[in-house]
Amino acid sequence: MSQHLLSISDLNRESALHLLDTAANLARATETTVKKLPTLRGRTIVNLFFEDSTRTRISFEAAAKRLSADVINFSAKGSSLSKGESLKDTAITLQAMGADGVVIRHPASGAPKRLADQKWMSGSVINAGDGTHEHPTQALLDAYTIRDRLQSGKGDLQGIRVAIVGDILHSRVARSNVLLLKMLGADVTLIAPATLLPVSVEKWNVGISFDFDRDLSSFDVVMMLRVQRERMVESFFPSEREYARNYGLNSVRLSRLKEDALVMHPGPMNRGLEISADAADSIHSVIPDQVKNGVLVRMAVLYLLLSGEQS
Ligand code: NCD
Repeated sequence: MSQHLLSISDLNRESALHLLDTAANLARATETTVKKLPTLRGRTIVNLFFEDSTRTRISFEAAAKRLSADVINFSAKGSSLSKGESLKDTAITLQAMGADGVVIRHPASGAPKRLADQKWMSGSVINAGDGTHEHPTQALLDAYTIRDRLQSGKGDLQGIRVAIVGDILHSRVARSNVLLLKMLGADVTLIAPATLLPVSVEKWNVGISFDFDRDLSSFDVVMMLRVQRERMVESFFPSEREYARNYGLNSVRLSRLKEDALVMHPGPMNRGLEISADAADSIHSVIPDQVKNGVLVRMAVLYLLLSGEQS
């Protein structure tokens, strides 16, 4: 692996599979012995969050602690960041504190790359979500969950049919997932209203559909995306009712899924909008697994970037 994880394009098929295998090994190690491994003892990891987050921040914190690293949580609110301190000054502070790894979430696409490229700090930079650009560890935990459930935790995702449904336009989760799922051989279809697809989507080389009901029973995985109201400055659909009717995963659509199809959602969910409560809580749902696997995959990322093991 390279020094940083800024995008799925920092990985290739081999290193992505190695990372997923490492996460599976860590799952076995932490299940059978103790929850905490000494691997990153003495290392410092800083969680630098310029955007609200519950699950991703907690997940990175749990991952770092399970590898015995020291963790510093640095959120924009209540720090000098909210007083306008620049990314550069923050990076210089982190360097002075001896951060070996910085996990950054930022509303601007490209902020993690800027931190890594400018060499203000010598540690590894891990992108925990930048604007509408990428969220590589989310895609890795999603791939881990699919592989664990549908491929017995082995090999790639060849032949698995994945539908990614909803607000693709604002979704860094969709961008990272498209790159990784394709790299691992899955067959990806994006399903959304035309207003919620990026203009460049044709270049993504995936299937596109405006009709959620068509081919519904052919998918092995249905990944629902949150409608990201906070990134919407204009109206992208006539009403929430109409959106839910056309693009929501409800009980009728749920009943049409393949018997062993997986329902996924990165969270936080808008229950009743993109996903109904019964779909979120159904036997198809692997949403709690995604959260659990997130810790394992982030442990693998921190381990591979910071322990010096090269794949
Ligand atoms: C996602 C994110 O922040 O990009 N959530 C997450 O990381 N668990 C998706 C979202 O906010 O909808």
